[in-house]
Amino acid sequence: MDISAQAFRWFTSYVSDFKTEQNIILKEEHTEKVVLEAVSLARILDWPEEDIILAGLIARFHDLARFEQFSRFKTFKDKDSKDHGDWGVELFEELNPLPPLMGEDRRILLSAIRYHNKKSIPGGLTERERQHCRLIRDADKIDIYRVVTGSDVSFTGVGSCEDNTTSPYLSLLIDNLLNGIQSDNTHLKTREELILLQLGWIYDLNYLESLRIIDRRGYLNLLIEELPEGQDRDRIEKHIQKTVAEKLSNRITGSKAGQMAY
Ligand SMILES: [Fe+2]
Repeated sequence: MDISAQAFRWFTSYVSDFKTEQNIILKEEHTEKVVLEAVSLARILDWPEEDIILAGLIARFHDLARFEQFSRFKTFKDKDSKDHGDWGVELFEELNPLPPLMGEDRRILLSAIRYHNKKSIPGGLTERERQHCRLIRDADKIDIYRVVTGSDVSFTGVGSCEDNTTSPYLSLLIDNLLNGIQSDNTHLKTREELILLQLGWIYDLNYLESLRIIDRRGYLNLLIEELPEGQDRDRIEKHIQKTVAEKLSNRITGSKAGQMAY
């Protein structure tokens, strides 16, 4: 059995112990989709076969801690439980699901699990390690866009835009979005805030192909449509459309790895 099949078999059996709630099933589905997105991105980027395989393994285990997190704390909010990137590394070391994965590949997998959910990737990583951290962050975001634009908003842990009455954090999120600044998710409470934060992810994407996929699938438009009608929404819509168009046209003949230069 190859290592990807071995990882799949271990993961399926591990998750079956938790499978009692819809949130767990949705996280398992998210993992499967992120594996597909990660492998597909790595292929498009023309990575060597060993890195395509490693990208799939990283995606398979990137949310390893989510299952125990929900089972123990009944939440996916790290601030109310534990950081699921760091916790995923601890669990991987403890459970050792892939004994044949050794040396540099294992070290890269652990780094990518640890940093997939952080606000940014720290310095001091090797180039290969950094590329894998960048790829899982993009693949994860692509699938989170699928989830949040789908029908099951309960998965995100926040309600609809109509729930939003007053939020002191809202104007900061809008300003950040219009100025190309990544917001952090510490104070996130409403669906509107979540949408503004996730629209800002376009500044944090690492590969041009990721933005192309997100644009092609219409995720950004679906999110914008959910914002309350008004001047703010109009400004945001124009700004996002302009930014995406610029990025896609400027970089169309970009570096051979298809990386964004930001
Ligand atoms: Fe995650």
